[in-house]
Amino acid sequence: MAMNIRLEHLRKEFAGTVALDDLSITFQSGKLTTLLGPSGCGKSTLLNLISGILPVSGGGIFFSDKEVTKLPPDKRNVGLVFQNYALYPHMSVCDNIAFPLEIKKVPKAKRRERAYELAQLLQISDYFERKPSQLSGGQQQRVAIARALAKEPDILLLDEPLSNLDARLRLEMREEIRRLQLKTGITTIFVTHDQEEALSISDYILLMRKGIIQQYGVPQELYDKPANSFVADFLGNPPINMFNVTVEGTDRLATEDGIVFHYPTGALEPGRKVQFGVRSEAFTVTDQADLGTPALVSNVFLNGKETLYLLQIGGQSVRATFNGSVRFGQGDTILVSVGGSHSHLFDAESGAVL
Ligand SMILES: Nc1ncnc2c1ncn2[C@@H]1O[C@H](COP(=O)(O)OP(=O)(O)OP(=O)(O)O)[C@@H](O)[C@H]1O
Ligand SMILES: [Mg+2]
Repeated sequence: MAMNIRLEHLRKEFAGTVALDDLSITFQSGKLTTLLGPSGCGKSTLLNLISGILPVSGGGIFFSDKEVTKLPPDKRNVGLVFQNYALYPHMSVCDNIAFPLEIKKVPKAKRRERAYELAQLLQISDYFERKPSQLSGGQQQRVAIARALAKEPDILLLDEPLSNLDARLRLEMREEIRRLQLKTGITTIFVTHDQEEALSISDYILLMRKGIIQQYGVPQELYDKPANSFVADFLGNPPINMFNVTVEGTDRLATEDGIVFHYPTGALEPGRKVQFGVRSEAFTVTDQADLGTPALVSNVFLNGKETLYLLQIGGQSVRATFNGSVRFGQGDTILVSVGGSHSHLFDAESGAVL
């Protein structure tokens, strides 16, 4: 039975360093939540607290209605795949997968049967008798995941399980993890610092920074409605363009070097300094001289399915992608306007969306 994971005012300090601060959140039962954030933001620490490998400094952890804050790891029924997955080198694939069952004193024939089922599920049954050194990185990774699933955990925690794989294998493996998660319906937390990976396989994303929650929601929500400039900047490829601007009236923003964007500023008071975040797809080409902002095309990159334009707007380099059959070359001066849902204003100090 799938369980939710509820964290209440969770806190973790390491000798004075605060790794996680006042974290309260519920990870939904049966869903895959991605834990995303830059290196050092506390992702592994959070998994280690949930699995019980590390004690908390404060707050509580609940699996559905049961408090587990002080339970030892082996009483939590959590499957954990570490950031650097460690298989037992002297044991076969079968014995590696079955190891948690051996600890549980499951009879040998039964262990083997269960290990084989899991190997089939992860498509590694052809290598059942091999040693880890005779497997590719991706195959070893799958053994580690099968081992984590062997004890039929209520919760599966995966700490950057794909970090050692090449791009193609990584793509295949993440699809496989998603397939497996949907098939088993197990509540899963998947750690990555790859935003594209997070956007592609998650039911929910939790984005953290320096041990503090920045935003929690479905992927599209974080992309379309970022809570602050950090979230906007972290998600999206190419990264969002950020301008420091001053509000001028109800429909104009001016950059530091006097470039004007025609953009609705709502109730913001004139003269206020704000950050203007514009995703590459929010730019359109216009021929209305009074509404357009001049931009110099400084480079054009064919990027497979779309063309990426590097523009100079005032003193700033800007990345833009245009719809349809727009074609420009290096050195052209064009007029662009910004609109639609992929542009946002942020408070200059706090970064909070306005
Ligand atoms: N055992 C420890 N002792 C002291 N500080 C620690 C310890 N473990 C982690 N930290 C610190 O806690 C913070 C969070 O570390 P954590 O390993 O959770 O980050 P992370 O988000 O998993 O990063 P990465 O993406 O690099 O794996 C870091 O500042 C780290 O230096
Ligand atoms: Mg980590």
